[in-house]
Amino acid sequence: MTEQFKMDAPATARRLDNMAQGLVGAPLDRPEGPLKVTGTATYANEWQVEGMVHGVMVRAPGNSGRVVLANRDAVAKMPGVLCVIQDDRLLRNPAQGTANKAPIQGPHHATYFGQLIAVVVAEGFEQARHAAQSLKVQLENGEVMPVDPDTAAVEPQKGKALDQGDLDGAMKEAAFTVDVTYTTPSHSSSPMEPHASIASWDGDDLTLRGSYQMLKYNRNELSDALGIHPDRLRILSPYVGGGFGSKLGITPEAVAAAIAAKEVGRPVSVALQRPQVYEATMRRSETTQRVRLAADAEGRLMGLGHDARVSNLPGETFAEPVLQASHFLYSGANRKMSMELARVHRLCAGSVRAPGEAVGVTVFEGAMDELADKIGMDPVELRRRNIPEKDPESGKEFSSRRFREALDSGAETFGWAERPGVKERREGEWLIGYGMASAARINVLMESKARVTLTPEGGARVETDMTDIGTGTYSIRPIAGTCWVCRAMPWMCAGRYHLPPASGSGGSWGASSSGTSVYLACEAIRRQLAERLEVDENDLTLKDGMATFDNQTRPLSEILNGDEIAKLGHVVPGDTSEAVRQATFGAYFAEVAVHAASGETRVRRMHGTFAAGRILNPKTARSQCLGGMTFGIGIALTEELSFDPRDGHVANHNLAEYHIPVNADVPQLTVNLLEERDDWANPLQAKGIGELGICGAAAAITNAIYNATGVRVRDYPATLDKVI
Ligand code: MOS
Repeated sequence: MTEQFKMDAPATARRLDNMAQGLVGAPLDRPEGPLKVTGTATYANEWQVEGMVHGVMVRAPGNSGRVVLANRDAVAKMPGVLCVIQDDRLLRNPAQGTANKAPIQGPHHATYFGQLIAVVVAEGFEQARHAAQSLKVQLENGEVMPVDPDTAAVEPQKGKALDQGDLDGAMKEAAFTVDVTYTTPSHSSSPMEPHASIASWDGDDLTLRGSYQMLKYNRNELSDALGIHPDRLRILSPYVGGGFGSKLGITPEAVAAAIAAKEVGRPVSVALQRPQVYEATMRRSETTQRVRLAADAEGRLMGLGHDARVSNLPGETFAEPVLQASHFLYSGANRKMSMELARVHRLCAGSVRAPGEAVGVTVFEGAMDELADKIGMDPVELRRRNIPEKDPESGKEFSSRRFREALDSGAETFGWAERPGVKERREGEWLIGYGMASAARINVLMESKARVTLTPEGGARVETDMTDIGTGTYSIRPIAGTCWVCRAMPWMCAGRYHLPPASGSGGSWGASSSGTSVYLACEAIRRQLAERLEVDENDLTLKDGMATFDNQTRPLSEILNGDEIAKLGHVVPGDTSEAVRQATFGAYFAEVAVHAASGETRVRRMHGTFAAGRILNPKTARSQCLGGMTFGIGIALTEELSFDPRDGHVANHNLAEYHIPVNADVPQLTVNLLEERDDWANPLQAKGIGELGICGAAAAITNAIYNATGVRVRDYPATLDKVI
């Protein structure tokens, strides 16, 4: 009953292009959208579970030492308080999956400021909060720990160094060179919905209502943290109010709710307070990046170098993958790259909105703009000249790549030809500039399963634990349209672990991976129906509960005659990366106005052209790109986590002080998606689009600031003090 498919050779579902239904590729609304905008979708912390009590978490007031709850007994006697729990299972915050557990350095031992080390449970939420605030938390035998990456000891990240040809020689011989160092600050995912969990036990079985991105993995992480078998727990996560990486892994409130619910014998709700989201989930590492470019007289790259330093906790395995796109974006025979890790006692480093490329491509594209300026060449032309024929390091072909077209058509759409010279255009007190940057992101396929059932009535039910974190996954349901149209809300049963495990939402792989599993199940059903009808499957069209074949149209309910057909689609990634280089590409163009006196930058307009294989739903794909470019504006101008240099605590731990762009900061953005098919990605020929709109976007803005003012900001974000 399982249709398993291993993706290790080119595969096409050309059928999708010729389907009468034409639903794949149609601009469909989100089925759950009305529930979300009317406030009727139930988010994790909104469930009313009978007998539920409340837990509030308590943080470590430093980054080292044994945690002592000095007045624990007195707090335990406060009104409504049921218990005060200090349990080392709380310290195991995987944040980025089980592979990335922050190490526990000893019993009750704090590792970073803000780490959630205890939970106070009370009948009422206010009672729990009051008691948690009354708890006197002390650290014993703490040491002075490194918190500043600039002064901490560094170590090379193993396996990340590349030295091909002779970059130093190329730098000496080149007609034009750039050797610059940029810095980017730490970022916070900052989802609107704080992390929240309600745990309820039924004997030894745990149900967790939470807000998570990858339920199969989350279940294993929670099982690991609690020390119980994964079969004993399920996670319900039908609505997620944004994750942006911070909900890829189980966070401490889930572990706390589960432990507390067991302890008090009642369901327990634990929601992180906004500052706790900033202090104790995870962060994007700050980066220091040196880029070297060596070009000949015609602007062809003879070599390039990219060396980055990022930080994480001692023993932590995740490191911001800054170099990811530098390996394949541009040609140049002589290449040198390296990564260094500074071990600091700050909260976990993890995936935040396009980990790697969001800051790696951004910095590289700033350096490319500097090179274009030195040569006196149009920045678009510089990129065009350096598009490698094949992967410049491995020699593999690109599976699909409409990069040149994205540059050209984006420039055309934006009106790039009108670009002023540096400091050339002024409107009153505003200096006007244009800037551009390339976009690039790796493409990934993940294992995913979905069960599709053709019901006796001729409808379809899709069962999978796939999550929708606001990206529009649930609107990709008409992939079922490859087999038939299902107008019901089959995805409403998504997001619950006991369903077939999907890829989850992360790394831009969600729609294409989970969509492929649905497609495989649908095709298996089509084949079975064709057999039953004794027709060629290619001549069988299924739509709106009807089957059309041999010039006749009959209701599926009649053909099924009381039966149902269920198939499990299962896609498994193969070794396609051995054969080809797979990535997505695009280009950004921005116009800014910089105030001549204050240095305030306003983005006036911004355009992105992207190519990411087949676009499954142009409406939600476009929205993802708009969101990505909006985050690009944040990276360029406002976003920065500030750490106290004494103890590494997050100083701006709320949305008032951590500046994400708001409506007033975002002008009309335009997006153009180029038609593309990628036979190596999956049978749908779709690549990931979710994060592509972030990967370099900020550079288009800072390059425009340079064009407007002649000021090159190499220290993100480009706040006004740095511009004037
Ligand atoms: Mo994403 S930052 O992989 O959720």
